[in-house]
Order: sequence, then C-alpha cells, then structure tokens
Amino acid sequence: MGVATEVMISAQDIHKGFGGTPVLKGVSLELQRGEVVAVIGPSGSGKSTFLRCLNHLETVDSGSILVEGEVLVETGASGQARYAGDAEIRRIGRKMGMVFQSFNLFPHLTVLENIIEAPMVVKGLKREQIQPKAEALLKKVGLLEKRDAYPNRLSGGQKQRVAIARALAMEPEILLFDEPTSALDPELTGEVLRTMRELAQEHMTMLVVTHEMGFAREVANRVIFMDQGKVIEQGPAEAFFAAPSLARTVAFLQSML
Ligand SMILES: Nc1ncnc2c1ncn2[C@@H]1O[C@H](COP(=O)(O)OP(=O)(O)OP(=O)(O)O)[C@@H](O)[C@H]1O
Ligand SMILES: [Mg+2]
Repeated sequence: MGVATEVMISAQDIHKGFGGTPVLKGVSLELQRGEVVAVIGPSGSGKSTFLRCLNHLETVDSGSILVEGEVLVETGASGQARYAGDAEIRRIGRKMGMVFQSFNLFPHLTVLENIIEAPMVVKGLKREQIQPKAEALLKKVGLLEKRDAYPNRLSGGQKQRVAIARALAMEPEILLFDEPTSALDPELTGEVLRTMRELAQEHMTMLVVTHEMGFAREVANRVIFMDQGKVIEQGPAEAFFAAPSLARTVAFLQSML
C-alpha cells in the first residue's frame, strides 16, 4: 500500500516584484500534510516575501497558489494573475496561521485576551466557548500562569510562545513561521524551538523561514535554499546538510556556522 500524501500548499512559478524590481523569480513549492519544511537563504533573497504571498499579505504578479487544492490565485495564458473572490480568500487564508519575528501581540490585551480575540471576532465564538481551549493552549506552551499578564511583562521567548498559541487557537491546517527566533536572545531561542519541535512531533504542517540551522537539520523533513529570488537547491534535510551540491549552498552554510 502506498503512503497517502496530501498536498497542503502548492505554489507554482511565483513571480513578485516591488516597483519594477523582481524579488521572486519563479519560486515553486509543494508542502505535504504533516511535513516540516525549512526555508533558508541570505538576507534579501525573498524568503519573507514568498511566505507573505502564500498567506496573501502580498499579492503575486504571476504564478499559482493552491491551498488544500483550493485556488487562491492562478495565472492563465494571458500571464495575468487572477485571485479568488474576497470571501474565498478569507476562507483559504484561515487555513494558515502565521508567526512573525516581531510577535505582533496586541499590547493592550492580556495574554488570554490575545488568544481569544481572533476566534471571537473571526469565528464568532463566545468567550466561554473559546476560553478552555485558549487555556489548554497556554498550558501547552508552558504559560498558563501568565494568562492575565500584559505582553510588556513577558520575555521575548514568552511573547513568541503566546504568539504560537494565538495562531493555534484559530485551528489552522498549516503554520507559517518567519524567523520566529531571530529577535530573541540565544537563551530564549531554545524555549521557542522546543515548542515548535513539539508541534512537529504532533505532525503539524509547518513552513519555517529560519536561520537556525540546527533546528532545520533536526526538525525539518526538507530544506529549501533560496538565493536572489529563486530556489536554487532543496532536498531532504539530512542529505541537504550532509552533502549540499552547489558551491553557493556550501558557502552559505559555512557563513552560518
Ligand atoms: N514592501 C516592500 N517594498 C519594496 N521592497 C520590498 C518590500 N518587501 C521586500 N522588499 C524587497 O524585496 C527583497 C526581498 O525581501 P525579503 O524581506 O523577502 O527578504 P528575506 O529573504 O526575507 O530577507 P531577511 O533574511 O533579511 O529577512 C529585498 O530586497 C527587500 O528590500
Ligand atoms: Mg525575511
């Protein structure tokens, strides 16, 4: 019996520029259910832009993006990208949660309120309906005792774990992370990576832009190396790190040591 695979995100030939400067030059990716894929590459290579295109924080110039087989955007023979309707875009967008480098917690809301806000506003749930789940998520990230604290009383690592709990509260199918630990002191990085490792063990589908090569090597199933707006090398994590095939990849990995 074959192993069933389920494509969660299929992005094909994504092109995106800013003010006439091309930033993504034909990037493609398939993300399977339960897969953890690390996206690595030098600053300015387009990693964040690519992630932002996937969850519609940016629009593509051309290419196609399907999420669980549903078309977010596609490009026909005309070369013109055609997006789904607004309601469809919102529905597809809810399949993905995003965790940012800068946490983006609401400063005027407590930890618990940060987590229940979106399920209440977006899903129309009542506080009583979501609160037990929010507390369970806080417990999961080890921060139940901080439920009534405001974000400015938390360490960076704690803020990021709240941000992960907040993303999970929306019950996404896929989590996108954009350098979730790069704003953190090294001693706080570990606690966030531990939370992410646990999610990976629970088979959460994750696409992680990271400069943590140790995390990529140990946790990711697959690694994608982007340079100057293109995926120039990719492969299973173990093989990728053990024997990168391009000189450019080798040089980049050397620079990350
Ligand atoms: N909103 C924008 N307007 C104009 N240029 C942009 C915008 N966003 C990104 N860029 C440019 O696109 C290029 C790729 O940026 P991007 O943030 O995707 O790179 P990155 O790989 O995430 O880099 P880093 O590792 O530093 O986060 C850069 O040259 C950047 O200046
Ligand atoms: Mg970036």
